[in-house]
Amino acid sequence: MAVIDEVAKTSAILHRRMLINGAWVDSVSGQTIIVENPAKRKPIAEVPRGNAEDVDRAVEAASRAFPVWSRTVPRDRGRLLSKIAEALEGRLEEIARLLALENGNALRTQARPEARNMADVFRYFGGLASELKGETIPFGEHVLSYTRREPLGVVGAIIPWNAPILLGALKIAPALCAGNTLVLKAAEDAPLAVLLMVEICQEHLPKGVLNVLTGFGLECGAPLANHPLVRKLSFTGSTEVGKSVMRAASERIVPVSLELGGKSPSIVYPDCDEDWVVDGIVGAMRFTRQSQSCTAGSRMFLHADIFDSFLAKLKSKAQALKIGDPLLEETDMGSIINKKQFSKVCGYIDDGLKRKEATLVFGGLPPAEGPLAEGYFAVPTVFADSSNDWRLAREEIFGPVLVAIPWRDENDAIRMANDSHYGLAAYVWTHEIGRGLRAAHAIQSGWVQVNQGLGQVPGHSYGGYKQSGIGREFSLEGMLDSFTQRKNVTVNLETPVRG
Ligand code: NAI
Ligand code: MG
Repeated sequence: MAVIDEVAKTSAILHRRMLINGAWVDSVSGQTIIVENPAKRKPIAEVPRGNAEDVDRAVEAASRAFPVWSRTVPRDRGRLLSKIAEALEGRLEEIARLLALENGNALRTQARPEARNMADVFRYFGGLASELKGETIPFGEHVLSYTRREPLGVVGAIIPWNAPILLGALKIAPALCAGNTLVLKAAEDAPLAVLLMVEICQEHLPKGVLNVLTGFGLECGAPLANHPLVRKLSFTGSTEVGKSVMRAASERIVPVSLELGGKSPSIVYPDCDEDWVVDGIVGAMRFTRQSQSCTAGSRMFLHADIFDSFLAKLKSKAQALKIGDPLLEETDMGSIINKKQFSKVCGYIDDGLKRKEATLVFGGLPPAEGPLAEGYFAVPTVFADSSNDWRLAREEIFGPVLVAIPWRDENDAIRMANDSHYGLAAYVWTHEIGRGLRAAHAIQSGWVQVNQGLGQVPGHSYGGYKQSGIGREFSLEGMLDSFTQRKNVTVNLETPVRG
């Protein structure tokens, strides 16, 4: 912990390695990537710049570890995951601080809750090992036909930087529980907390079962996706890269799970001009994660009768959020991950400001001077526009920019909500529960919340419709669907008795 605080305050730099076959190693090339603290625009660490050669080593190690791990009694695998959960629980604060330092997410509102969720994911899957059940099929008394849930082999998993330890845990725990081995590629912008989580995992695992690489997408992620020994691909990140991962999967006919972007709608009914709904919208928009969330409710369909008054309340709540150093307790909202994303977000705000039809309700471009200009800090921003067809209403911004669109006819609101190539999450706000549920059923999204805007909980079905992805991983069913394959065994019970 002291080391993390020193790095946060001085120009000290952490040196971290990757995990291959139970050993902590540099890249074969010896090259490194610099990791930056985005709240100060300052280097804090260097990690190996893995490439195809490193991928090869990691995949081969995972492949060698597979036979023994896959035949380990499932409950014993589960027991190890539960031990990992306990070990992680003892180090949550350290992991959370490292995460806040490297990805700019505020410690109190984001990094700590994410660390708790990470440990929870190991707890949840640790208890599920006995649920890898098959079934018997009643073909008649002369035959015994049954299915087994078998692991797939080496899983290649690639994760992004926005919730790296939670998303990393969501690959590691179900894949290992089901008897697969894993090569995980961390995101180049936020590898440190993942490496610490993995270090704790490794204390309880046989070598080669879990391997972790650091490196860039094209140099390290792509060779992993294309590796012939990888039997399953699991990717969380942008839709563009998701498509390339799916193409790689199609070349070898391996199953693929994709958790991609979103442009999730919030529909607010006229009976909801109330404070708790405004709080819910702030939560659903993930303003305190700078809205760098695939489930951000970034299109708000607000009933015309309450449009101005609701936005006035939203303005006062959103502007009350304290933006600043992610490591300070009082901070509600930290910084954007890196320069590229920061410029992208500013580009969208600029577009909104230039568009005649759009009105800036509050926020705008980030401050160019003062303490916030030290890091990639953006401010909560809302544009009002009657159209759902412009760029800000269609593309995933991945920054704190919300578009508010008025409606009068419920059918119009639902039609606009569905008029998107994404379909990850959605939020409906009304006191009339029947109406809320009818809307929930009509919305084309994998996850609809009525009257709340919370994050995922292990155990629920979570994943996208349309271009937001395919497959589910968050639950028992997700583990079974995404990380096992079914084998049928049929036995003739009427073979002649010998002798
Ligand atoms: P990205 O999709 O490029 O990166 C995610 C992960 O994929 C990283 O580990 C990266 O190294 C890897 N990757 C990149 N290119 C690859 C390739 N060709 N083959 C294999 N792996 C590859 O996301 P990025 O560039 O960090 O963010 C760009 C946009 O993506 C964001 O503005 C946001 O809209 C979206 N995004 C969505 C996320 C989600 O959870 N839905 C998470 C992160 C980004
Ligand atoms: Mg990228």
